[in-house]
Amino acid sequence: MKKVYILFAALAAATVSLSFASSDQDAALKKSMEAGKGVYNGICMACHLNEGQGIANVFPPLAKSDYLMEDLDRSIKILINGQQGEITVNGKKYNGAMPAPGLDDKDIADVLNYIRNSWGNKGDKIVTEAQVAKVRAAAKK
Ligand code: HEC
Repeated sequence: MKKVYILFAALAAATVSLSFASSDQDAALKKSMEAGKGVYNGICMACHLNEGQGIANVFPPLAKSDYLMEDLDRSIKILINGQQGEITVNGKKYNGAMPAPGLDDKDIADVLNYIRNSWGNKGDKIVTEAQVAKVRAAAKK
């Protein structure tokens, strides 16, 4: 009986610490998304529009964009360097130019957390400033 009790207590403790860890993540994501929304509305919305819907064949959508959700490092690079040349987003071709928005690492992480978790998108994990810094450093080599 004692063994069963110890096992139960250990399980309960593990469950509690797991749920704390995930609510910390949720809070961090929420905060980052709020900051990212400010960046989005100030810069990106002009082209990608208020719900990330874009304009077919001119400005690619971010809402439910297969291209956006497929490769996080590539999205980070787009936000560091801008993007030009032909790409295919949700089956439609784009061949325009997005100027580098000139954001710092934190703004890039925030805006990515916002667009990757809005309008039906669901990012698998939170994007961190450190991750952006790593991609930026690798791009400089
Ligand atoms: C001046 C208009 C303009 C602004 C401002 C702009 N973009 Fe773009 N964006 C584009 C264009 C045009 C493309 C496609 C470029 C091409 O055809 O290669 C693009 C492509 C992208 C892509 C990759 C394709 C996709 O749909 O998944 C992402 C992600 C993206 N933009 C995010 C952003 C974010 C975030 C911001 C704000 C920080 C932003 N853009 C600001 C015009 C813009």
